[in-house]
Amino acid sequence: MQDLNWWKHAVVYQIYPRSFQDSNGDGIGDLNGIRNRLDYLVELGIDAIWISPIYPSPMADFGYDVADYCGIDTIFGTMQEFDRLLQEAHRRELRVILDFVPNHTSDQHPWFIESRSSRDNPKRDWYIWRDQPNNWQSHFGGSAWEFDQPSGQYYLHEFLKEQPDLNWRNPAVKSAMFDALRFWLRKGVDGFRVDVMWLMIKDDQFRDNPPNPGYTVGQGSRAQFLPSYDADRPEIHELVGEMRGVLEEFGDRVLIGEIYLPVPRLMDYYGQRLRGANLPFNFQLLQCAWSAEELASTISEYMAALPAGAWPNWVLGNHDKSRIASRIGFKKAHAAALLLFSLPGTLTIYNGEELGMQDVLIRPEEVQDPAEKRQPGIGMGRDPERTPIPWDSSPLCGFTSSAPWLPIGDANRTLNVQSSSSDPNSMLSLYQRLLRFRREEPALVSGQLTDMSATDGLLQFFRSEGSERFRFVMNLAEESRQIAVETGVIVASTSQSREGEHVRRMLSLEPAEALIIRAED
Ligand code: NOJ
Repeated sequence: MQDLNWWKHAVVYQIYPRSFQDSNGDGIGDLNGIRNRLDYLVELGIDAIWISPIYPSPMADFGYDVADYCGIDTIFGTMQEFDRLLQEAHRRELRVILDFVPNHTSDQHPWFIESRSSRDNPKRDWYIWRDQPNNWQSHFGGSAWEFDQPSGQYYLHEFLKEQPDLNWRNPAVKSAMFDALRFWLRKGVDGFRVDVMWLMIKDDQFRDNPPNPGYTVGQGSRAQFLPSYDADRPEIHELVGEMRGVLEEFGDRVLIGEIYLPVPRLMDYYGQRLRGANLPFNFQLLQCAWSAEELASTISEYMAALPAGAWPNWVLGNHDKSRIASRIGFKKAHAAALLLFSLPGTLTIYNGEELGMQDVLIRPEEVQDPAEKRQPGIGMGRDPERTPIPWDSSPLCGFTSSAPWLPIGDANRTLNVQSSSSDPNSMLSLYQRLLRFRREEPALVSGQLTDMSATDGLLQFFRSEGSERFRFVMNLAEESRQIAVETGVIVASTSQSREGEHVRRMLSLEPAEALIIRAED
């Protein structure tokens, strides 16, 4: 693994900063909070943290509305505190990846304030202004165009009206945004996760999106149309290549793209001759049904579609999607962790997944997420997966000393870090074992994936490199299952007590049990 770029064998841990650790008692997590928990992350065994946006922001979309790309919001701390966090993370050999939000700024960004001030302002063309709207719909519901009365034109916002879209066809925008990247790269930041990478360039003729024949009422207004003209446009790839070029000015940094597209389209984001994103995020495990058959075909399809030399990656959860333990159940989430750690390439986990955290029920008066406020009750809300990390069993779980910005949730309290740490059967212990194990076994990171099968609810495949050969098996059936196996030893298991067990010929697996067996000659 020595020869691989650092990010190829990394496990990336996403920190949602508002909910990770509060250090100043305002109920919202901050940079000093993250710094205070670095030793926890080291002990957990992850390699890199990706921090969701910490830039100055009116927080209309909780930081995904940036008002200054080269600053730190006072809610999270100061630039000195960021520098210290970076330094202390690096001292512990933890890499730091920042979120970069290029598609849109805040409407409070000085660029937009100038742009909207008059039609002939030099920054007018930094955003997308039109005399007439077309039928494009915002991802948060309703038209993606907002009329600006004083200047008499509409501006485009793929998300909130407080998040106007930048015009990336304008070279001045490109150059200002690339300079913002350089600002952080110069500080030593190890890479970026680029927000909605596939949306950055729109059709230059602003053609209407065609109707979506599969639309059913209740899916949100954007689903009425196919995103043919406001997403995944061919020109995006050149732009991503240029962005990659900026990172390469600074050596071995990583460019990760947030991209929700079908697999064949996703693969284009590796770029011509792999000169695009190092890692176009692979969200297949977030989207597929959790059955042996579906998983087998999802994993095989992704692996087969990878361009030659492209590096795979896998994501189990993020701040926009229901938590894995709620999607598939707490027990199966243990098996999901084993599956994740058996897959090739770079892994990304979302804070709290290592505890088995579940979505928290948010009462109507507690809703914070603008996506839920704009289209209530149709499942758009993301607050349930953004609740505070429970650190201990005290009333506020060691997260804060005042009212937390989102409720902690009773089920999650019991999963707190303190009690999970002393329980060998906890999800946390499982994650620690898996992280340690993967670090020691390059075959799991870069070995071949072969012999994928799904029968009777059993998912199986092999990972091998050199003389090492591992069998992964997971039982997703409702009953226990017997399988024929080679002689070997169980090296990782959803039940800690089975680790070290020698196996020969036949093996039994309980429902929701998963194992990794090291084959022995
Ligand atoms: C994707 C981010 O993950 C999400 O949280 C945000 O609301 C949108 N992009 C808009 O920036």
